Amino acid sequence: MKIKKAVFPVAGLGTRFLPATKAMAKEMLPVVDKPIIQYAVEEAFSAGIEQIVFITARGKIALINHFDRSFELEHNLKIKGKHELLKEIKKLVPKTGTIIHTRQNEPLGLGHAIWCARDIVGNEPFAVLLADDLIKSDVPVLSQMMKKFTKLQSSIVAVMEVEKHQTEQYGILDAVPINNEVVKVNALIEKPAPEKAPSNLAIIGRYILTPEIFNYLGKNKKGAGGEIQLTDAMHSLLKTQSIFGYKFKGERFDCGDKAGFQMANLAFAMEREDIKNKLLKYIKTLG
Ligand code: UTP
Repeated sequence: MKIKKAVFPVAGLGTRFLPATKAMAKEMLPVVDKPIIQYAVEEAFSAGIEQIVFITARGKIALINHFDRSFELEHNLKIKGKHELLKEIKKLVPKTGTIIHTRQNEPLGLGHAIWCARDIVGNEPFAVLLADDLIKSDVPVLSQMMKKFTKLQSSIVAVMEVEKHQTEQYGILDAVPINNEVVKVNALIEKPAPEKAPSNLAIIGRYILTPEIFNYLGKNKKGAGGEIQLTDAMHSLLKTQSIFGYKFKGERFDCGDKAGFQMANLAFAMEREDIKNKLLKYIKTLG
């Protein structure tokens, strides 16, 4: 079955990035010259996604506007002869009807945010992308996962190994290897203390989920941090369906974290011929 819809929860408070996120979604912070949400939306489209579902909140309207026409700007670029920029700005706007958005009225957790998309997604498997997990890779991670889904026909989470002391920042898998890339999940635990973590395989913000996940998200059960957690709903889903972990190929940056965000900016800027040399010259002066 083809995955056509991708859900982007962007309703979190972004407290780790205050004060920048006081009045602005963290997903609108730019890495080099693109807001981080744009990287994730481009990844979804390049993986063949046909419809984008944003779960937003009050104060996040700039994010929706970013993917809409801006006639005044287009007009100004046109009369100033900035044709390349004009082309780029227009390219950003997907075909009308491709972007749907709904609001999560209260930030009750990632699981609750995804549950808000239940009627939009309906009874089909779908993707979830957390834009603040920015991944630099040759093949977009969602495309890598789609390929696995074709074979496995089950829910899949992207995973990477983390340091043992970091387990309490992530959802962690208890899993057995199927091959070098894929593990079969026995249990999922949200933010376990290092001594309680069954492994160091951490869930990263890319998922392919079967629609049955909504049955468990709908129970609105609170978990770690008093939030309704996707990890807990996936653990319950294991009662009736298999879930797999996929060790993606790529480098992941946690853009919800101040240091991770700066690293992402450096890594992406160093790939830009127009920026790289200036940046390198400056870094050398820091000694
Ligand atoms: P985070 O765990 O990064 O939470 O959410 P956060 O609130 O955004 O940031 P911090 O931890 O306070 O700094 C992971 C993803 O889930 C979304 C976020 O927008 C982010 O993409 N989310 C989280 C929601 O959409 N709603 C929520 O209630 C919580």
